[in-house]
Amino acid sequence: MSDREQFQLLFPEENFDKMHNYIESFHKMITFYKCAMMQIETKLKILNEEFSHEIDRNPINNIKCRLKSFPSIRAKAERNGCPMTPDSIEENLNDIAGVRVICSFKDDVYNIANALTRQNDITLVSKKDYIENPKPNGYRSLHMIVMLPIFFANEKQYVKVEVQLRTIAMDFWASLEHQLKYKKNVCFTDEMSDELYKCAQISYSLDEKMNRLKNAVLE
Ligand code: GTP
Ligand code: MG
Repeated sequence: MSDREQFQLLFPEENFDKMHNYIESFHKMITFYKCAMMQIETKLKILNEEFSHEIDRNPINNIKCRLKSFPSIRAKAERNGCPMTPDSIEENLNDIAGVRVICSFKDDVYNIANALTRQNDITLVSKKDYIENPKPNGYRSLHMIVMLPIFFANEKQYVKVEVQLRTIAMDFWASLEHQLKYKKNVCFTDEMSDELYKCAQISYSLDEKMNRLKNAVLE
């Protein structure tokens, strides 16, 4: 039985061609994001190579890439009242492709962020500095939405990528906070939030001390 016949058997009310085109256009869109993410990752690896020659250590500890899953895209589009079409998703959702950059020191975060956004083909769409202005719960990171062109055989596509940069200490706190907060069937009390906030402060003061120590060692 052909795909078309199977589909029609399962969903007699649906139009096969319409559905097929829709899935194809979505698949194409996801490919754009995947390529943009690869491009940003390569740019970051190159910067890490260059800086590590200059300063004899790696400013970037780790890079994590993730593509938002189809159910998460749908859930977020619904929350934002955005239609589930590729055009509208591209316009309204900025974090389909996400790259998280874990740096050693706070200075590295800004050096890498500035070096990336200075590149000719990168456009900085928006920046939120949660290091200088942490969230009320204590969360710290530098968030940027960047846009870059991706070159295919017959077309050039501009794609947005969310880049989150943070230190190891900021990542330690954010990862554990995420684990605790999203634990099922657990009631998160105000005292617990207070404790977590204090942990974020301790973690940040450690970051500041380590950054000062690095500068002292360099002198
Ligand atoms: P989203 O709709 O969640 O993308 O929010 P937004 O567009 O207002 O962006 P925001 O700057 O709040 O942060 C987006 C991303 O940063 C989230 O998806 C998380 O990965 C991360 N993030 C933001 N706040 C927190 C936090 O309090 N804790 C942790 N662990 N991560 C956070
Ligand atoms: Mg998000």
